[in-house]
Amino acid sequence: MKRIFLIGYMGAGKTTVGKDLAQRAGLSFIDLDAYIEGRYHKTVRQIFDEKGEDGFRQIERNMLQEVAAFENVLISTGGGAPCFYDNMEFMNGCGTVVYLKVSVDELANRLELCKHTRPVLQGRSGEDLKCFIRENLEKRESHYTKASVIFDAENMLTETDVENISKALLKLL
Ligand code: S3P
Repeated sequence: MKRIFLIGYMGAGKTTVGKDLAQRAGLSFIDLDAYIEGRYHKTVRQIFDEKGEDGFRQIERNMLQEVAAFENVLISTGGGAPCFYDNMEFMNGCGTVVYLKVSVDELANRLELCKHTRPVLQGRSGEDLKCFIRENLEKRESHYTKASVIFDAENMLTETDVENISKALLKLL
Protein backbone atom coordinates (compact mmCIF):
# COMPACT_ATOMS: atom_id res chain seq x y z
CA MET A 1 0.00 0.00 0.00
CA LYS A 2 1.35 3.39 -0.99
CA ARG A 3 0.26 6.85 0.05
CA ILE A 4 2.22 9.89 -1.07
CA PHE A 5 1.57 13.52 -0.14
CA LEU A 6 2.98 16.25 -2.35
CA ILE A 7 3.39 19.56 -0.54
CA GLY A 8 4.92 22.96 -1.28
CA TYR A 9 4.13 26.62 -1.71
CA MET A 10 1.47 27.85 -4.16
CA GLY A 11 2.93 27.62 -7.65
CA ALA A 12 5.48 24.95 -6.74
CA GLY A 13 3.98 22.57 -9.31
CA LYS A 14 2.27 20.11 -6.97
CA THR A 15 -0.67 19.44 -9.27
CA THR A 16 1.39 19.29 -12.48
CA VAL A 17 4.03 16.95 -11.05
CA GLY A 18 1.43 15.07 -9.01
CA LYS A 19 -0.62 14.04 -12.03
CA ASP A 20 2.43 12.84 -13.95
CA LEU A 21 3.99 11.06 -10.99
CA ALA A 22 0.76 9.34 -9.96
CA GLN A 23 0.39 7.92 -13.46
CA ARG A 24 3.97 6.63 -13.52
CA ALA A 25 3.61 5.13 -10.04
CA GLY A 26 0.23 3.52 -10.80
CA LEU A 27 -1.49 5.53 -8.07
CA SER A 28 -4.79 7.45 -8.09
CA PHE A 29 -4.31 11.19 -8.09
CA ILE A 30 -6.19 13.48 -5.71
CA ASP A 31 -5.80 17.25 -5.68
CA LEU A 32 -7.03 18.25 -2.23
CA ASP A 33 -8.41 21.65 -3.35
CA ALA A 34 -10.31 20.04 -6.24
CA TYR A 35 -11.60 17.38 -3.83
CA ILE A 36 -12.84 20.09 -1.43
CA GLU A 37 -14.51 21.97 -4.28
CA GLY A 38 -16.24 18.78 -5.41
CA ARG A 39 -17.46 17.86 -1.93
CA TYR A 40 -18.70 21.35 -1.08
CA HIS A 41 -19.86 22.37 -4.57
CA LYS A 42 -18.02 25.65 -4.05
CA THR A 43 -14.71 27.08 -5.18
CA VAL A 44 -11.92 27.60 -2.68
CA ARG A 45 -12.42 31.34 -3.19
CA GLN A 46 -16.15 31.05 -2.31
CA ILE A 47 -15.32 29.09 0.84
CA PHE A 48 -12.78 31.77 1.87
CA ASP A 49 -15.37 34.49 1.18
CA GLU A 50 -18.14 32.77 3.12
CA LYS A 51 -16.27 31.17 6.03
CA GLY A 52 -12.99 33.09 6.18
CA GLU A 53 -9.57 31.48 6.22
CA ASP A 54 -10.25 29.74 9.57
CA GLY A 55 -13.34 28.08 8.13
CA PHE A 56 -11.41 26.97 5.05
CA ARG A 57 -8.59 25.52 7.17
CA GLN A 58 -11.07 23.44 9.19
CA ILE A 59 -12.62 22.05 6.02
CA GLU A 60 -9.17 21.44 4.56
CA ARG A 61 -8.18 19.55 7.72
CA ASN A 62 -11.32 17.37 7.61
CA MET A 63 -10.94 16.64 3.91
CA LEU A 64 -7.26 15.80 4.35
CA GLN A 65 -8.26 13.19 6.92
CA GLU A 66 -10.90 11.86 4.57
CA VAL A 67 -8.61 11.40 1.56
CA ALA A 68 -5.84 10.00 3.74
CA ALA A 69 -8.04 6.99 4.38
CA PHE A 70 -7.68 6.00 0.71
CA GLU A 71 -4.98 3.56 -0.33
CA ASN A 72 -2.58 3.70 -3.27
CA VAL A 73 -3.04 7.40 -3.78
CA LEU A 74 -0.94 10.42 -4.45
CA ILE A 75 -2.46 13.47 -2.78
CA SER A 76 -1.32 16.97 -3.67
CA THR A 77 -2.33 19.39 -0.92
CA GLY A 78 -2.92 23.15 -1.04
CA GLY A 79 0.13 25.23 -0.10
CA GLY A 80 -1.19 26.07 3.36
CA ALA A 81 -2.38 22.60 4.39
CA PRO A 82 0.90 21.41 6.00
CA CYS A 83 1.07 24.57 8.13
CA PHE A 84 -2.18 24.30 10.10
CA TYR A 85 -3.20 22.07 13.02
CA ASP A 86 -1.01 18.96 13.20
CA ASN A 87 -1.53 18.25 9.49
CA MET A 88 2.17 17.73 8.85
CA GLU A 89 2.55 15.19 11.64
CA PHE A 90 -0.65 13.53 10.48
CA MET A 91 0.63 13.16 6.89
CA ASN A 92 4.03 11.94 8.05
CA GLY A 93 2.22 9.34 10.13
CA CYS A 94 0.25 7.82 7.30
CA GLY A 95 2.36 8.26 4.17
CA THR A 96 5.48 9.61 2.52
CA VAL A 97 5.56 13.39 2.32
CA VAL A 98 7.45 15.08 -0.52
CA TYR A 99 8.21 18.81 -0.43
CA LEU A 100 8.64 20.49 -3.83
CA LYS A 101 11.05 23.31 -3.06
CA VAL A 102 11.17 26.43 -5.25
CA SER A 103 12.91 29.80 -4.66
CA VAL A 104 11.02 33.01 -3.83
CA ASP A 105 12.00 34.65 -7.15
CA GLU A 106 10.77 31.72 -9.21
CA LEU A 107 7.53 31.43 -7.19
CA ALA A 108 6.89 35.16 -7.64
CA ASN A 109 7.34 34.85 -11.42
CA ARG A 110 4.99 31.87 -11.62
CA LEU A 111 2.36 33.34 -9.29
CA GLU A 112 2.26 36.75 -10.95
CA LEU A 113 0.59 34.99 -13.87
CA CYS A 114 -1.86 32.83 -11.95
CA LYS A 115 -2.55 34.49 -8.59
CA HIS A 116 -6.20 35.25 -9.36
CA THR A 117 -7.57 31.92 -8.15
CA ARG A 118 -5.67 32.21 -4.85
CA PRO A 119 -7.44 34.25 -2.15
CA VAL A 120 -4.28 34.43 -0.02
CA LEU A 121 -2.57 36.48 -2.76
CA GLN A 122 -5.51 38.73 -3.51
CA GLY A 123 -4.58 42.31 -4.41
CA ARG A 124 -0.80 41.72 -4.48
CA SER A 125 1.56 42.16 -7.37
CA GLY A 126 5.15 43.02 -8.25
CA GLU A 127 7.46 43.73 -5.29
CA ASP A 128 4.56 43.50 -2.82
CA LEU A 129 3.77 39.99 -4.03
CA LYS A 130 7.41 38.94 -3.80
CA CYS A 131 7.78 40.38 -0.26
CA PHE A 132 4.63 38.57 0.83
CA ILE A 133 5.87 35.27 -0.62
CA ARG A 134 9.28 35.71 1.06
CA GLU A 135 7.79 36.33 4.52
CA ASN A 136 5.06 33.72 4.18
CA LEU A 137 7.42 31.04 2.86
CA GLU A 138 9.86 31.74 5.70
CA LYS A 139 7.09 30.95 8.20
CA ARG A 140 5.89 27.90 6.30
CA GLU A 141 9.30 26.33 5.66
CA SER A 142 9.58 25.03 9.22
CA HIS A 143 6.54 22.87 8.45
CA TYR A 144 7.46 21.97 4.87
CA THR A 145 10.93 20.79 5.84
CA LYS A 146 9.47 18.10 8.10
CA ALA A 147 8.80 16.18 4.86
CA SER A 148 10.81 13.01 4.45
CA VAL A 149 11.80 13.97 0.88
CA ILE A 150 12.81 17.52 -0.06
CA PHE A 151 13.06 17.93 -3.81
CA ASP A 152 14.37 20.85 -5.89
CA ALA A 153 11.54 21.80 -8.29
CA GLU A 154 13.04 25.09 -9.49
CA ASN A 155 13.29 24.16 -13.17
CA MET A 156 9.85 23.32 -14.46
CA LEU A 157 9.49 25.24 -17.68
CA THR A 158 8.78 22.47 -20.15
CA GLU A 159 6.92 19.17 -20.18
CA THR A 160 10.29 17.43 -20.29
CA ASP A 161 11.28 19.20 -17.05
CA VAL A 162 8.09 17.90 -15.40
CA GLU A 163 8.75 14.39 -16.68
CA ASN A 164 12.33 14.50 -15.42
CA ILE A 165 11.21 15.62 -11.97
CA SER A 166 8.63 12.88 -11.66
CA LYS A 167 11.02 10.22 -13.03
CA ALA A 168 13.60 11.27 -10.42
CA LEU A 169 10.94 11.22 -7.67
CA LEU A 170 9.75 7.80 -8.75
CA LYS A 171 13.25 6.42 -8.09
CA LEU A 172 13.25 7.94 -4.61
CA LEU A 173 9.84 6.72 -3.52
C1 S3P B 1 -3.40 28.15 -0.30
C2 S3P B 1 -3.06 27.44 -1.42
C3 S3P B 1 -4.04 27.02 -2.42
C4 S3P B 1 -5.41 26.83 -1.77
C5 S3P B 1 -5.81 28.05 -1.02
C6 S3P B 1 -4.82 28.45 0.06
C7 S3P B 1 -2.33 28.59 0.63
O1 S3P B 1 -3.62 25.82 -3.06
O2 S3P B 1 -5.41 25.71 -0.92
O3 S3P B 1 -5.97 29.10 -1.95
O4 S3P B 1 -2.62 29.09 1.72
O5 S3P B 1 -1.12 28.40 0.28
P1 S3P B 1 -2.36 25.76 -4.12
O6 S3P B 1 -1.11 25.61 -3.32
O7 S3P B 1 -2.66 24.56 -4.92
O8 S3P B 1 -2.40 27.02 -4.91
